[in-house]
Parts: sequence; C-alpha cells; structure tokens
Amino acid sequence: MSESLPVEATQREQISTTIYRSADQACIRVADAISERIAENTAAGKQTVLGLATGSTPVRLYRELIRRHRDEGLSFADVITFNLDEYYGLAGSHPESYRRFMQEQLFDFIDLKPENTHIPDGAIAREDMFASCRAYEEAIENAGGIDIQILGIGRTGHIGFNEPGSTPDSRTRLVTLDSLTRRDAARDFLGEENVPRHAITMGVGSILHARQVFLLAWGEAKADVIAQSVEGPQTEAIPASFLQRHPNCVFCIDEGAARRLTRARYPWLVGTVDWSPDMIRKAVLWLSRKTKKPLLKLLEEDYSENGMADLLTEKGSAYELNIRMFNTTQHTITGWPGGKPNADDSHRPERATPFPKRSLILSPEPLDDVYCMGGTFHRLVNQGNEVTVAYLTSGNLAVPDSEVRRVIELMLELGEHRQSTEDLKFARLVERQLREKGQFGDDTPEIRHLKGLIRRAESRSSARLLDVDSERLRFLDLPFYENGRYRRFQPGESDTAKLGELLHEIRPHQIFATGLGNDPLSVPALGFEILRAALADSRTRDWVNDCRIWLYRGPGMEWETHEIDMAVPLSPDEFENKIQGIYQHQTQRNQSPSLSKGGSSNTWNLASEINHATANAYDALGLAEYEAIEGFKRWIIQS
Ligand code: PGA
Repeated sequence: MSESLPVEATQREQISTTIYRSADQACIRVADAISERIAENTAAGKQTVLGLATGSTPVRLYRELIRRHRDEGLSFADVITFNLDEYYGLAGSHPESYRRFMQEQLFDFIDLKPENTHIPDGAIAREDMFASCRAYEEAIENAGGIDIQILGIGRTGHIGFNEPGSTPDSRTRLVTLDSLTRRDAARDFLGEENVPRHAITMGVGSILHARQVFLLAWGEAKADVIAQSVEGPQTEAIPASFLQRHPNCVFCIDEGAARRLTRARYPWLVGTVDWSPDMIRKAVLWLSRKTKKPLLKLLEEDYSENGMADLLTEKGSAYELNIRMFNTTQHTITGWPGGKPNADDSHRPERATPFPKRSLILSPEPLDDVYCMGGTFHRLVNQGNEVTVAYLTSGNLAVPDSEVRRVIELMLELGEHRQSTEDLKFARLVERQLREKGQFGDDTPEIRHLKGLIRRAESRSSARLLDVDSERLRFLDLPFYENGRYRRFQPGESDTAKLGELLHEIRPHQIFATGLGNDPLSVPALGFEILRAALADSRTRDWVNDCRIWLYRGPGMEWETHEIDMAVPLSPDEFENKIQGIYQHQTQRNQSPSLSKGGSSNTWNLASEINHATANAYDALGLAEYEAIEGFKRWIIQS
C-alpha cells in the first residue's frame, strides 16, 4: 500500500489514489468504509444509501460484504441501493442483465430487502424512458442521496455507462455504448453481435452528487485510463476525469492498474528514488526513449536534465551507466530460450544445463501459447527440448455458435452419407439445442463440449506448424472454467490438484506462464493463481528449486523493454511461421484479446504489431536490428 508515500510522489495526481498489493486488500478497505457507514447511520437511526456497480471489478468487494454478513453479522436491513446502469433491451431475467448480476453476486446472499434495491429498468418502453429516468433520480433524492458510491471504470474512461462525450452535469438517461465497451463485453454475451447497443445509466452529475466515491480498478488493462483520469485534464473524452472535482473521492487500485501513474512509471520525476538495479534499468532505458538516443550516446546533461542527476552522483558517470545498461540489455537477448548447450552461460538468461530441458508452456486458453510465444515455442522444440503445452482451459466459451453450426452441418451430411445413426442422433440433438437456446441462452454441456473440441483441433493444427507432435499437447479442461461463465469463475482445489498432478508428472526445468498483473477475474490471472497454488503444494519436491519460471505478458500486450529478462529474436521466416500458426485458430479471428485497445481491429494483426514493436524498441536502444522479438520476464517464486 502506498499511504506512507511522501507527498511529492503524488504531486501530479488530481484524485486521491491508493495503490494496493492486491484487489482483495483494496476491497477490504472499501468494505470497512461501507461497514462503518452502516454502523454509524444505524446507530443514528438512519438508513444507508449505497450506489453500486457491476462488471468484474466489484465482484471481490461483494464477496467480502457477503462474508461479513455471514461471519460478522453485518446487516443490510437498513440499506437502500441504487445501481449505476443497465443494458437497454434486456429483461431482468437475462443472464447478462445487471439485475440478474446483482442478484447472483450480492443480493441473494445478504439481508437487503428486495424493495430497497433499485436498478434502471432495461425493459422500459422508449416512450416512457424520460419519465423513468427522472423517477430514478427522484428516488435517489427521496432516499436522501447516495452515501457511498462504488465505481468501476471502463477502458473508454466511462463511469457507469457514461461514455466519452458525457458532460459533468449529465443525469440518468439512455446512452449509446462505445464500440470498445461493446468489444469488452463481447465475451460475456458470447459474441459482440449480441451486446446491446444502448444502456440506461446514471449521469456523471448524478455520480458527483454522492457524498463519498470509491473507484476500483484492477489489472494493467485499466492502467492507461486510470493515469488519464487521475493526472490528465478534466475532459469529456475521459468522463472519469470529472471525479477530480469531487471533494471526497478515492481511487483504490492494484499495482497493475497503477502502472501508468507518474509515481510508478517515472518516480525520479516526482521525488527521490532508491536506485536499485531494476530502477536504474527502468530509468536509463526510459531516458533513451525520451531523448530518442541509443543508450551509448546518452550524455551527462541528458541525465541531469531529466531528473536523474542524483543517479550520476550515486552510481557513476554517464559513460559507465550507458555501458552497464547496454550490456545488461544485450544479455537479455538469446536465440536459445531453453539454454545453449556447451556454452558459457554466465551472461545468458537460461542456464546451459541440463540439456535438453523439460519445458512446460502453460496456455490459459488455446491460442495464447502461439499468439504470445509461438516463435520461442518453435525454437524450444527445434533445439531439442522436451516441450509440453498444457491448455488450462478448453476455451469453449469463446467459440461463436456459427462455428458449431458449421460442424453440425458437416456431421449431418457425413452421417447421412454413411448412414451412421449415432452420429446423426448427436448432430440433431445439438442442432436442436442451438435452436432452443437462442442468442443469449447458456450453452448445453453438449454444445460446450463440441466447442472445446473445435478449439482442440485448432490447437493441433497450429502445433503441427510449429513441429510439435500432438501428444505433447495436454488439454486440462480445468473445472472452474467448464462449470463457469465469464466473471463468475470460482477456482478451487480441484483445479490446483489437476495442474499439480501435471507438474509432478513432468517435473519441468522451465515453465512459461502468464497472467500476473491481469484483472484478477480474467482467465489468465486465475490460471496464474492456480499455478502459484500448485507450486506451493509441490514446494517440498526437489524440482521446484531447479525450475525457472518465465512470464509472457499476453494476450495483446508485451513487457516494456526494461522488464524483459529474456528476449527471443525471430527471423522473418520464423515470424511468418508463427503468424501461420495463429491463423489456424480460425474461430478466434474476430475475438479481440481482452487487453488490447485501439490500433488493430483484429487479434491477428495485433500479435505482429507487438513483436515488431519490441524489436524496434531494442533497435532504438542501439542493439541489433531484428525482425521481431518475444519478451519474457523471470518470476522468482516467493517463499
Ligand atoms: P469491468 O467493467 O469491471 O468488467 O472491468 C468496468 C466498467 O466498465 O465500468
């Protein structure tokens, strides 16, 4: 937590912001504030009015409130709630309606009176819209105004569904959703085409009227918009920036979401810093970018004009620092991600022995492996390492129904042709289920199974291009995913046990994993927590201490150069091969990686932009000029 920070570190921040180690810690703080307010009001014989939000972000807060209700007697009997928003055109019973979300995530588990909960009505007729929105505002006022408002933030900068263009005095109304917002909701709705185009939302003005506001944000996908809201100008382009004018608003965020704040990004610009080796690397590489000079051409005055004079006094001349950082960065580059046998490895990211290595690639869903590290994967295999890929989840939720229809048509035709009654029976069953579930219904187990098989087939054809035998692919189908839905996943011991078993069987020398720093409810982040738990279980086993863990950043993102501990360059041919590998994941062609914003309109272009960008960044530092680079950060298991 950052509360003890000297004031100068936060001098650019226009909103009080606290950074927590984890989302759970932040949620405890906010739950404390809510509990205290309820206690005070109840003691004074008053009701408490809470403004609530939906989305992934507040889920952990709601779990904590439920826990306090169950274990500590926190009562909501005197609480009135108002939710920020609701999709327009969805009945309250729709699985993605915010009414249903609130019931399932909070209301059903606490003693809140149903008549005290308010959510805009998404099924209202257009002609009644104006009156209904006004009535919502009046209801808030009649309840005495909102005591505590909980907010998430969208990547467009929206609070509630106040998309860019919303004015600070806006009130509850019908709005059109931004295309990025609809893309972010695509997974929940099993396809972007199913996401409603409109929503009803409380206005920015309504939110600013709350007596106290907590905005929560987790994961690096939110880092840009958090920095813009907290440090940028107040602007309609980022509606959350209007919270700067609220006298009692705190942003409670995790380290991932804080990444782009000045104090995290360039702490030397806003105060004195502890010049650890990592900090020096971060600062000098930044200086090179900022001055657009390769490392070896940085001058004393570049350092002193950019807030780094004390670094020179403490750690030596520009000349020495430049060379040191040049060498450090150069030593991250290796064409041998599994270690180079019989080579001096004192300056290589991976050790030479043992060789070959047992390498385990953990891919949260099919595609992440090739998308984020297809080139490295290919090299590991070609250099003779024993590579296993474990797909943690089946990824079946990300397959559009249209793909299943295609397979069913094939099965029907083939079944008729071959007069195979069993196949025909199955195909007809799934065909009927697809029809019956309609656009928004949950997939039946048969449909999910088939969708999972489609993704398996795609993974196999992708692996073939990377010269990987299909028996090296392991499909774990972790239960948390198979039994869940986006934003509702709840991993448990059976997930850890399943991964633990695989780890124990393989006893890898190196593991490639991802998910650290992502939104804690995302599949990669849950996968990472399962890995962490599985490693803790097997700590006593000798192999863990001899296993290196390499983190890839994806999907849709890359480490910054100062974070990369192993940079694997790809030749134009290898890079092209990787792209072909990605193309095999046909069902994913229109899915956008959850972390990407703007730029590429589809998944495939983005992968190549990222790897080219890393290569260009190395080039700009004055290192060799490569076609593409995949970057990895080493993760040391904390005991
Ligand atoms: P999220 O959405 O919590 O699902 O990220 C937040 C929002 O859009 O406000």
